[in-house]
Amino acid sequence: MTTIKLSLGFILILLMSPLSRAADWPEFNLVKAEPARLPRPETVKISHDPVYKSAKEYEAYPLSEILNKIPMPPSSKPDELVLVFTAADGYNVSMAYQDAMAEQGFIAFRDKAVPESKKWLEFKFGKQTITPAPFYLVWPKEGLDEWRYPWPFQLVSLSLQPAKAYFGAAAPAKTDDRISNGFELFSRYCIRCHSVNLSGGDVGPELNVPKNITEYFQEQALPQFIRNASAYRAGTKMPTFENLITPDDAQDIVHYLKQMKLEKAQ
Ligand code: HEC
Repeated sequence: MTTIKLSLGFILILLMSPLSRAADWPEFNLVKAEPARLPRPETVKISHDPVYKSAKEYEAYPLSEILNKIPMPPSSKPDELVLVFTAADGYNVSMAYQDAMAEQGFIAFRDKAVPESKKWLEFKFGKQTITPAPFYLVWPKEGLDEWRYPWPFQLVSLSLQPAKAYFGAAAPAKTDDRISNGFELFSRYCIRCHSVNLSGGDVGPELNVPKNITEYFQEQALPQFIRNASAYRAGTKMPTFENLITPDDAQDIVHYLKQMKLEKAQ
């Protein structure tokens, strides 16, 4: 298996969710948008493109300007939203809306190295040879956390959805301030790798069914483990969250996980 296939497969499979339909929520269709609705294109330089494994220059629309044109779903706060990218084959890739707003992303529509008429270069994806057409999400800043900043290609539309709707079975039915803060953090930082009630990624273990994590993991150790898994397991694949999640926030994540023990999917 080539590295390309591994890392791309990773990025895509992790964040795919067939659970909720983009069409139910405010969306921006990149393919059907009238030219007047699209922002002014810019040239963006990428020092290390994860798809082509090289430096790249694209013509692209600033993501923030497209986001400004998508209405907020009714009665939702920005920190409760996920930004969902839908590819031509119907796959969804999501990221936290607040992460998308915090960095400069671009929706690329042409590789500057090829003639206008051709637009894109091909690359190998598993056994196939494909291009990122029609649209490809790129992040010029170096060193962004790949778990929070995906690079999905063959995009056709984007939409804003409440995390509760998008992650369905992982959302708590009963909440208080701490549980809802815990779910918000979980859906921002954890769900790309872990599922709860089988909703979410599968890089890390499912955390609720059949056994909830608090039913077999020392509960006092959990907040610490969540902030720094490598202090417990050498070579763990779980990133360190000490700079992103405070001890109080880690407690709230545990509150949320404990609540889900009472809300197990059948
Ligand atoms: C990049 C993927 C990734 C992210 C993001 C991630 N984890 Fe993990 N996590 C893993 C993997 C893989 C394991 C298990 C194996 C290991 O330790 O390497 C794990 C293990 C765990 C375990 C122990 C489960 C067990 O039974 O061993 C808990 C609890 C956990 N993660 C919670 C979280 C929480 C909460 C977050 C968000 C703050 C989070 N993880 C973010 C990949 C991830």
